[in-house]
Amino acid sequence: MSEKIKVLISEEDVDRKIEEIGKKISKDYEGKTVHLICVLKGGAFFMCELAKRITVPVSMDFMAVSSYGSGTVSSGSLKMIKDLDESIEGKDVIIVEDIIDSGRTLDKLIELLSTRNPKSIGVCTLLDKPDRRVVDVKVDYTCFNIPDEFVVGYGLDYDQRYRNLPFIGVVEFED
Ligand code: IMP
Ligand code: MG
Repeated sequence: MSEKIKVLISEEDVDRKIEEIGKKISKDYEGKTVHLICVLKGGAFFMCELAKRITVPVSMDFMAVSSYGSGTVSSGSLKMIKDLDESIEGKDVIIVEDIIDSGRTLDKLIELLSTRNPKSIGVCTLLDKPDRRVVDVKVDYTCFNIPDEFVVGYGLDYDQRYRNLPFIGVVEFED
């Protein structure tokens, strides 16, 4: 079986939206330092672009968790692959996600990070598939709501491929 990638959201549209969200965050966090937490690997491209557009002081850290194997269905359990390097105690944290699907990963992540006494926890996601939500999670900043289709690009992968596409595309499977 082979795949074809169809453009869903163009590079220009993604860039424009990230700029808008960056401005919004800068306004909401005026007078504060924003501590961005990137959920690797998917959130990396988005977080770098977002950070460049935030005008209040920014610090960053990275963590890797997994809830997916090599397929396209969530297993529902969270595995810590790489923890944060620094403490988040007293910090205004924003979790930066590539996509929220069932919401399970984010829900578990918020639960974990809350135990470390940050001053606040916000959530910013590039994509959201609201139709797929299983666990109710509060998302503060969403760039795009998308339909229930498997997407790649801008950090998102299918079996570790396509993360480097500069746009967001839908994977179409063909025989
Ligand atoms: P959740 O726990 O079901 O919300 O899954 C979130 C994670 O699943 C994301 O951080 C992605 O790594 C992965 N994921 C969900 N949907 C997609 C998709 O359409 N393309 C690529 N990865 C996805
Ligand atoms: Mg992810």
